[in-house]
Amino acid sequence: MELVDSHAHIDFPQFADDREAMLDRARAAGVSALLAIGTGPGPEKLDSALPFADRYDWIYASIGIHPHEAKQATPQHLEELSILAKHPKVIAWGEIGLDYFYDHSPRDVQHRVFRDQMALARDAKLPIIIHCRDAWADCLALIDEVWRPTGIGGILHCFTGTVGEVRRGLDAGFMISFAGNSTYPKTQHIRDAAKEVPLDRILIETDSPFLAPQPYRGKRNEPAYIAEVARTLANVRNLLPEEFAATTAANFRSFFQLVRPPDSPASIS
Ligand code: NI
Repeated sequence: MELVDSHAHIDFPQFADDREAMLDRARAAGVSALLAIGTGPGPEKLDSALPFADRYDWIYASIGIHPHEAKQATPQHLEELSILAKHPKVIAWGEIGLDYFYDHSPRDVQHRVFRDQMALARDAKLPIIIHCRDAWADCLALIDEVWRPTGIGGILHCFTGTVGEVRRGLDAGFMISFAGNSTYPKTQHIRDAAKEVPLDRILIETDSPFLAPQPYRGKRNEPAYIAEVARTLANVRNLLPEEFAATTAANFRSFFQLVRPPDSPASIS
């Protein structure tokens, strides 16, 4: 089964003891590409995903300041992001957005830093990855106002919204990415939303080390477990897991206009 993990925090300290082995397990499970999210521990380390992208041809990187750390963002950080955005393997800006569940940064600051980063991502011509928790109305309004006119699109990551919200995201040009929480018994609403997404707009992710899928729930998550998300959503869509996984992998490559890495098992020469 060929799989792509569209969102993983492989730089996080939870992988300090076995990072290499974790990446080997991902490859053994069929992961042919992975987007390493570069929000890291916050703006003090904006290049946290880049060492992986530099070292592994199958790993790509994002950069950005998470809404949790918006209050730490300075103009210098934003300038540094614009420079990092030019790295050839930086393919997305994020995760950025709004989080009213934790409210780690004041909401007006979250709004400003979200807007500022959308403006920079537009200049860099990079798709954005949206983190939105308990803030869909404001998040979608800002996207409609600032991002939609760019026509660049992006990813609604770890989607947990309603069917109505998924439609608005699709209208704004976004891919919709589902994580391990789509496999939990009580999240039928997420699976219902997954039924509404056209097959060519769906992505899957682990959001490692968080949100381990059902069989591993409560444990540390890792990219190798992406197959569980593929199985659950394939079932929702009445497809074979292999078919669904291959479709989401192809969606990732076509959205980011990537060429298949040469060592990929399914590559054609
Ligand atoms: Ni994340």
